Amino acid sequence: MSAVVAEPEAPPAALSRPSAPAVQVSGVNHFYGEGAARNQVLFDNCIEVQPAQLVVMTGPSGAGKTTLLTLVGALRSVQAGRISVLGRELSQLSPRELVGVRRDIGFVFQMHNLFDALSAYENVKMAMQLGRQRPEQMRRRGVEILEQLGLGHRIDYRPRMLSGGERQRVAIARALVNEPRLILADEPTAALDRESTRKVVELLKATTVEHAAAVIMVTHDYRIIEAADRLVHMVDGRIVSDVVLHDALRICEFLRAVDLFRALTPTQLTDVAEKMTKRQYRAGEVIIREGDPGEEFFLISDGEVDVVRADHEVAHLGRGDFFGEVALISGEPRNSTVLATEPVDTFVLGKSDFQSALDASAPFRDQLYRVYFSRH
Ligand SMILES: Nc1ncnc2c1ncn2[C@@H]1O[C@H](COP(=O)(O)OP(=O)(O)OP(=O)(O)O)[C@@H](O)[C@H]1O
Ligand SMILES: [Mg+2]
Repeated sequence: MSAVVAEPEAPPAALSRPSAPAVQVSGVNHFYGEGAARNQVLFDNCIEVQPAQLVVMTGPSGAGKTTLLTLVGALRSVQAGRISVLGRELSQLSPRELVGVRRDIGFVFQMHNLFDALSAYENVKMAMQLGRQRPEQMRRRGVEILEQLGLGHRIDYRPRMLSGGERQRVAIARALVNEPRLILADEPTAALDRESTRKVVELLKATTVEHAAAVIMVTHDYRIIEAADRLVHMVDGRIVSDVVLHDALRICEFLRAVDLFRALTPTQLTDVAEKMTKRQYRAGEVIIREGDPGEEFFLISDGEVDVVRADHEVAHLGRGDFFGEVALISGEPRNSTVLATEPVDTFVLGKSDFQSALDASAPFRDQLYRVYFSRH
């Protein structure tokens, strides 16, 4: 993934930011074991995470991701270096104060520790009782977040009556219900299907946008990586890369892998990517309708669609496929309807930007015309 390298230390920019970093880690080493068995697993790690930033951490097994996350979460004592969380330096806090820090963090770890005697809603409510809400407010909020995670039909179920993925989502609801300013998550979508993963990603993204929460998440799921603001990679106890991701770069990266766009030079590709916007469709939604004027060109970045002409399905398209070019080239109305058969993510290019891309590159135009004649 191409990206802009984050400044490891950027005091001037940091000073001009409206709020302090949510997390500051500097010079952190960590050892497991004693004496001859003492083994260093983290080496001089530094990272600063801002509010409203969704950071995805990747790396091979044993790289130290969970260890670093548990240190930031005050679940393990800092042995060397400094960690400051939501403005508090962990090594200077009493055990009681550390409990307070943990309360301000939403944890989503593999061991979700749901209470077996309590229903899904009651498990979520446990987290809310630490706050100060009225019972009806709590119920509304608890049900709302469970519904957002697709658990509306499981509200009064006990954990042992739920699937692994459902339990995991209850744990996510519990972690997010108090709108924490920091969320630490370790492979939160490992047991989830596509649709549930999507809901979790949406909720996390909304939390960063609406409540300026900082999220640090270990995952290898590309759907989350696509929603990330920043990608941190760890190998052998060290952060080896730390990149900030921008939409245009992400789109560019995606276009590069699509045959049609291989005809464009890197500059042309960047131009097109910058003009594209991301748009999502729900399952069952009509994206374009036969007979309508053609205003836009679509590229599917995730999900699948049916192309229907005169009530007959003529094609089924998925990730990396495009549609909508025929009406733009011919100037005639849409010759087919395109329907999302599941949630679909698209990159959309307006008519005039599409025309500029055609004008800018003869090879691109030739390649597109080949497709056009086969579909027209
Ligand atoms: N409690 C422990 N005692 C001793 N060694 C440990 C302990 N926990 C982790 N380690 C070791 O520390 C190193 C880092 O482990 P960690 O769990 O942080 O890696 P990770 O990147 O989260 O891996 P994974 O992707 O498999 O979860 C590994 O070599 C692991 O064996
Ligand atoms: Mg781990």
